Amino acid sequence: MMKKHNFSAGPCILPQEVLKQASEALLNFNNSNLSIIEISHRSADFIAVMEKARALALELLDLENKGYSVLFLQGGASLEFLTAPYNLMKLNGKAAYLDTGAWSAKALKEAKIFGDVNIIASSKDKNYNYIPKNYSIPTDVDYVHFTSNNTIYGTQFKTLPETDAPLVCDMSSDIFSRKLDFSKFDLIYAGAQKNMGPAGTALVVVKDEILGKTGRQIPSMLDYQVHISKDSMFNTPPVFSVYVSMLTLQWLKDMGGIEAIEKINIAKAELLYGEIDNNPLFEGTAVKEDRSNMNVTFLLKDADKKEIFDKKCKEAGINGINGHRSVGGYRASIYNAMPIESIQVLVDIMHNL
Ligand SMILES: Cc1ncc(COP(=O)(O)O)c(C=O)c1O
Repeated sequence: MMKKHNFSAGPCILPQEVLKQASEALLNFNNSNLSIIEISHRSADFIAVMEKARALALELLDLENKGYSVLFLQGGASLEFLTAPYNLMKLNGKAAYLDTGAWSAKALKEAKIFGDVNIIASSKDKNYNYIPKNYSIPTDVDYVHFTSNNTIYGTQFKTLPETDAPLVCDMSSDIFSRKLDFSKFDLIYAGAQKNMGPAGTALVVVKDEILGKTGRQIPSMLDYQVHISKDSMFNTPPVFSVYVSMLTLQWLKDMGGIEAIEKINIAKAELLYGEIDNNPLFEGTAVKEDRSNMNVTFLLKDADKKEIFDKKCKEAGINGINGHRSVGGYRASIYNAMPIESIQVLVDIMHNL
């Protein structure tokens, strides 16, 4: 079968070794002759998977013994849009949101159900092609929320918002891709289906001391403290998503962790942005200083070349580079598992167009 180069935005490419291990475990997990998806989630074998996944996440983020808990919850990042305010916004409370794209707009829409939402900066005026700077953050907010990487528009925060209020981040599309001081965050959440595993779970990393302060009654399934008290097993967890996420985190650790993958990610992004900048046929859509190293958005300036470019990409096995409908053009998602060789295939086609 033809080799594919999978540039999809999510679900997206995962490491081949991980897919192989996962497919073996679907039939015969740990030599039990049972599938990973047919054993009890209360079995010792699965509890070990969950514990390893949680421990690896903390280790990779350098948050061990720093007062954080890790959860793998159902409902994707979208459920966290409301679970975060449910757990953090006080009754009659207030939160600050940075509006840098469709996902942050969805997050703040949910937060408005719980209290006052102060949109402290927005890049909507330019179809979200930049990250706002020089905004001020009020001090009297329950938390500050931002989206570290804007999957659709190809922009990424290079510096963190400065605040003394709890910092909350939707890190769905760049978690585990670059070194940050993760101890600056009080709550990080991310859907699994970019840098971790199959859709079906969201990773939540939360600083324990910020919980239990809202005065609200929280339904059990949405209460982080309930999930923490049950070691992320309050109800049946999404066992396959957690298992594959664990394998991907182990793969990342074996590669040398976030520091090692960040170097590779920078080289990959430079290769592709270099071609976009040097080739008069192409143009990036995001402001240069805010460009994402995960989602590279660009336009083909000569409409007459679109047919031949698309044809060449298809013939080379390139998959998933159509831009999101709200931006148009192309989007190459180059997550952790994307090898630089696949980017070279795309760059060669662009170069010889
Ligand atoms: C930055 C970001 N946040 C949230 C989401 C929504 O995630 P989910 O589909 O897991 O709810 C996405 C999905 O692509 C995303 O890219």
